[in-house]
Amino acid sequence: MRVRDLTSDNRSVTSSDDVLAAQLQYYRQRAAEYDVTSFGVRAGERIAVPIVADRLAISGDVLELACGTGMWTAELARYAASLTALDGAPEMLELARQRVSPGDVRFVAADVFGWAPASSYDIVFSAFFLSHVPPDRFGDFWSLVGKALRPGGRALMIDELAVRAGLEQVHDGLLATRTLSDGSQHQIIKVFYEADELAARLAELGWAATVTAIDHGWFLAEATRA
Ligand SMILES: C[S@@+](CC[C@H](N)C(=O)[O-])C[C@H]1O[C@@H](n2cnc3c(N)ncnc32)[C@H](O)[C@@H]1O
Repeated sequence: MRVRDLTSDNRSVTSSDDVLAAQLQYYRQRAAEYDVTSFGVRAGERIAVPIVADRLAISGDVLELACGTGMWTAELARYAASLTALDGAPEMLELARQRVSPGDVRFVAADVFGWAPASSYDIVFSAFFLSHVPPDRFGDFWSLVGKALRPGGRALMIDELAVRAGLEQVHDGLLATRTLSDGSQHQIIKVFYEADELAARLAELGWAATVTAIDHGWFLAEATRA
């Protein structure tokens, strides 16, 4: 389903704080099995992380939103002058802390939807989180990214293209059901983007964005304030 269809549809579930709270709770519960189920199942994805990170021309002061277990954090830390990594799940942050060298990263535990940056950055990076932003929070999310960036700064977002939608059980266009190893089932927001529609959506918000298909049906969105 195209994002425009979703945004023109006022189903209350898209704006529900309950869904966002349940989504965060799901990731808290999933933290211990995240690396295996996210980057260990499909061949080549784990190895793609340092290869993709290497192409991003990371430098300067970097903010990572929704860092998870630090899969990308460890790569960003190799290039950034300073790195701040935020996540809402303490369990994820604990694993991320173990992955990076002490002192390399400042970790922040916060709900991104209620957080305001106290500093500004050259790069705001996020991997596999944009698809979890409900359509009615898309503008607020990008407004936060804009506030966090210095003039001329870049936003870099990696996530899944619509071609990967078949890997999920998605219903109502934007809710996916996920099952954890204990058998518990959880509903999360999952929006799959086409590259052109994401670029157009960002242009509407005043961003100059290029969205490129990269390895594994992922996209890289690179955006600056127009
Ligand atoms: C799909 S994972 C991506 C993790 C990491 N970026 C990666 O690529 O491995 C989504 C992450 O978003 C975090 N998250 C979910 N809701 C959040 C919220 N409201 N505020 C901050 N982080 C949140 C989860 O804890 C989880 O670590």
